[in-house]
Amino acid sequence: MTKTALITGAASGLGYELSLLLAKDGYNLILVDIDAKNLIKVQSELNRIYKCQVDIIVKDLSKPHVASEIVKEIDAVSIDVLINNAGFGLFGTFSGTDWQRESDMLHLHILTTTHLTKLLLDGMLKRGSGKILNMSSLAAFQPGPLMSIYYASKAYMLSFSEAIANELIGTGVTVTALCPGPTKTDFQSVVSENTVDNKIRFNMACPSKVAQYGYDAMQKGKTVAIPGKLNKFLSVLPRFLTRNKATSIVRKIQDKNREA
Ligand SMILES: NC(=O)c1ccc[n+]([C@@H]2O[C@H](COP(=O)([O-])OP(=O)(O)OC[C@H]3O[C@@H](n4cnc5c(N)ncnc54)[C@H](OP(=O)(O)O)[C@@H]3O)[C@@H](O)[C@H]2O)c1
Repeated sequence: MTKTALITGAASGLGYELSLLLAKDGYNLILVDIDAKNLIKVQSELNRIYKCQVDIIVKDLSKPHVASEIVKEIDAVSIDVLINNAGFGLFGTFSGTDWQRESDMLHLHILTTTHLTKLLLDGMLKRGSGKILNMSSLAAFQPGPLMSIYYASKAYMLSFSEAIANELIGTGVTVTALCPGPTKTDFQSVVSENTVDNKIRFNMACPSKVAQYGYDAMQKGKTVAIPGKLNKFLSVLPRFLTRNKATSIVRKIQDKNREA
């Protein structure tokens, strides 16, 4: 029987790349995004190239109760793979950033991800199989001055994923947290909308390679996936530093990368 995957943030970047990989492997897809125009483009591209069924749901995932609305909309379709990928960044000091954007980010990264996971996990457990991929970040491993809420929300996604992955051992359901470093997608321009120029050039990964790495890790049921040798090293580095030191290094990097 053909399996079905639900991917959030599928209209561009890593979500789009992950959708391509799933379509290539014969999954039927339910693609969710706020960006209707690009979502329709992705749907028609995948329908043209692959034989799978591609349905789309246009939703703002930062709104309350949106996870329940999606589950209602997909009705009785069994979801075999859930990819909680949609997300965005915001740069600036906490005292100066816009609360509405931050509140949206917290809803999107934390509440919607957690609720959608809870709602779809039930069916996976009953069937004794399922795969969940949560998009965390290299940002999850230390505090991030000038992107405080983003870093903290990604730390939540990593910690939550690792904890439930442990609870689910032996059930046939696996949870993977993908933790990419800087990746060449629209994400970087969204983060930098309030700075003059985004100067991140170093260690910038290709989205198709990051998606392939995460996809393979998810299929293998790996709990934490960090693409790239340098990123793996950076993820363990804070363990050898005081938390103050690690935080001040991130601050210096943020200042340097994004100085106006
Ligand atoms: N790129 C990086 O450097 C990087 C590194 C580590 C982790 N990540 C994570 O990777 C994930 C995917 O990001 P990306 O790099 O692929 O960026 P992207 O190209 O901007 O893709 C994100 C997609 O999510 C959508 N989205 C944003 N807010 C939404 C909402 N409230 N409801 C529904 N959809 C929403 C975006 O739509 P709009 O474009 O219309 O907003 C966009 O289509 C994010 O969780 C991000 O935190 C990215």
